Amino acid sequence: MNMEAYLKEEYEWFHTHPELSYEEEATTEHIRSVLKRAGVRLAEYPLKTGLVAEIGAGEPIVALRTDIDALPVEEHTDLPHASKHKGKMHACGHDFHMAAVLGATLLLKEQEKKLRGTVRLIFQPAEEAPGGARVVMDTGALEGIRAIFGFHVVPFVEKGTLGIKEGAVTAGVDRFVLRFRGKGTHAAAPDAGLDAIPVASEFVLAAQNIVSRRVSPFSPAVVSVTHLEAGNTWNVIPETALVEGTTRTMGREDRALVREALCTLAEHIAKAHGLTVEIDWHEGPPATANETDCIALARRVAERKGIPWVTPPGWMAGEDFAYYQEKYKGAFLLVSTGDTVANHNPKFHADEGAILPTAEYLAELMTEALREL
Ligand code: NI
Repeated sequence: MNMEAYLKEEYEWFHTHPELSYEEEATTEHIRSVLKRAGVRLAEYPLKTGLVAEIGAGEPIVALRTDIDALPVEEHTDLPHASKHKGKMHACGHDFHMAAVLGATLLLKEQEKKLRGTVRLIFQPAEEAPGGARVVMDTGALEGIRAIFGFHVVPFVEKGTLGIKEGAVTAGVDRFVLRFRGKGTHAAAPDAGLDAIPVASEFVLAAQNIVSRRVSPFSPAVVSVTHLEAGNTWNVIPETALVEGTTRTMGREDRALVREALCTLAEHIAKAHGLTVEIDWHEGPPATANETDCIALARRVAERKGIPWVTPPGWMAGEDFAYYQEKYKGAFLLVSTGDTVANHNPKFHADEGAILPTAEYLAELMTEALREL
């Protein structure tokens, strides 16, 4: 079988057998058997799911990462290789990522003797959890690397092109949960209580000013309130109102600014009306931070292979690859899915025709990274 047909087959296997974060046991076994069959050296790190392999020998070491987990999404495609696991789906394209990295691994293996160092392949669990990147780092699997590369399939980069952007290409993700607390009372006697509903509403509207008035217009940011809950009947003023949502920012300073502004608004609006507010802040991954020389290399390799590249606008989704970049230099690239719906949609489908070209590109990128970084 030729490489293109083989990688499609691998992709279809992954697509048919999606597993959720930290449950990727069959996926890990499958990857292990493919690598063993190809004679690829497996590295021993204490990972329950996911694995690490190496090609080549000695220094320098560069790493290539794919995520391996799927989402709790019920698939709605007519594909012959649709998910066999009810309520689970590779709706983010991590099946494509795995097939492309397996392809790159096999191509690198063919020219192992010519490599000027070691390529470390990271098959990372639980990108969607998130936090798989931290689990991998805790095992020491990244120690000694000079740089790390990763990528994601997205529909908004034109078919056949690569999205290669310096700096942040995915966002820093925070989640907030606010509980405004007043005093419950009869709906007919608001003066006997402290109504949390108008206060929470005031906060929701005021929060819209953070992005439009506080953050630089040259810097993308998002504040989304996605969950409101208060009361359960018509004639009782409830004591509390819950407001939940997320912020997305493209750098450390904006991240701190948005958090500070949001918390200040919540506290002061609550106080102005005699209420209190409890704030739970959950920090997700920071924004990715693509290093200049890694990006320049990625563009050079694309040009050499005749693959057009664009500077994409950025993607306000989170990506735990950013944790790697807090410690190691690297680049996170965007690969076109072809024309399709957005990631996480039950009809999501990546372009199988792009698997082999992506694998070939990644293999060359790793080879050149060993020479040039
Ligand atoms: Ni993803």
